Amino acid sequence: MNVRPDFSKNANQAETAPAFLSVWDMHSYYGESYIVQGISFNVHEGEIVALLGRNGAGKTTTLRSIARLGNPQVQRGEIWLDHQPLHRMSSHQAAVAGLGLVPEDRRIIAGLTVEENLQLAQIAPPVGWSLDRLYQLFPRLGERRKQEGVTLSGGEQQMLAIARALARDIKLLLLDEPYEGLAPVIVDEIEKTLRHIKEQGMTTVLVEQNAVRALQLADRAIILDTGSIVFDGTAAEVLENESLRAEYLAI
Ligand SMILES: Nc1ncnc2c1ncn2[C@@H]1O[C@H](COP(=O)(O)OP(=O)(O)OP(=O)(O)O)[C@@H](O)[C@H]1O
Ligand SMILES: [Mg+2]
Repeated sequence: MNVRPDFSKNANQAETAPAFLSVWDMHSYYGESYIVQGISFNVHEGEIVALLGRNGAGKTTTLRSIARLGNPQVQRGEIWLDHQPLHRMSSHQAAVAGLGLVPEDRRIIAGLTVEENLQLAQIAPPVGWSLDRLYQLFPRLGERRKQEGVTLSGGEQQMLAIARALARDIKLLLLDEPYEGLAPVIVDEIEKTLRHIKEQGMTTVLVEQNAVRALQLADRAIILDTGSIVFDGTAAEVLENESLRAEYLAI
């Protein structure tokens, strides 16, 4: 079975009716190292897309490229978010344009309480979810609003990192391994929250090593291998395709 996506078809789509997020022929480098090797994909509004692949496949590099972090350098390609050209923007401009990246290390700010971490995110307009709404979504954070953020458990820190992204008015949530190192019961809790966020209309790209859990949540899946897309289809198709799972996901 040939699972490589038809890039020519993506090209036409990108020209005529850009998806909510459209990545077109993106090439990214760390210095001389050529990592993301010309990938094209679309994400539709309100979808959860799982971005999967082995260690070193280029998942984090793809998220960092979309977030315009500067390292990696995107040397070619276009990135459109809701008709806005992210590829011409700095990371700050991309954030203002509605991009919310929750990096793998969560970046909770030391010396600040839970609430101060959230308030800091709300300094820059446009402001997103209110504190009340965030505490409704994450009751654990409400209970611990006066606790220093870095003293939270791993799962609670992940919740704070997601809440902080929502505290700004974002259009696209990029999550890099939100389940990493967390007990299954906490993963359940975060998964439930991500479903709820989706019901509120959020569009999400989810990078996960825990492919089974990610596929349970996602509408679609994109599989990367050495910086190229080897599959773009529904999550159900991946779950049904044993050889694909064995070859690229080791599940
Ligand atoms: N700052 C960097 N400088 C140079 N090379 C890097 C840098 N960061 C990542 N790489 C390389 O880029 C490739 C892709 O890395 P990336 O972090 O995107 O993979 P990943 O799919 O997120 O993997 P993992 O599942 O292990 O997180 C790897 O070969 C990695 O060694
Ligand atoms: Mg990674």
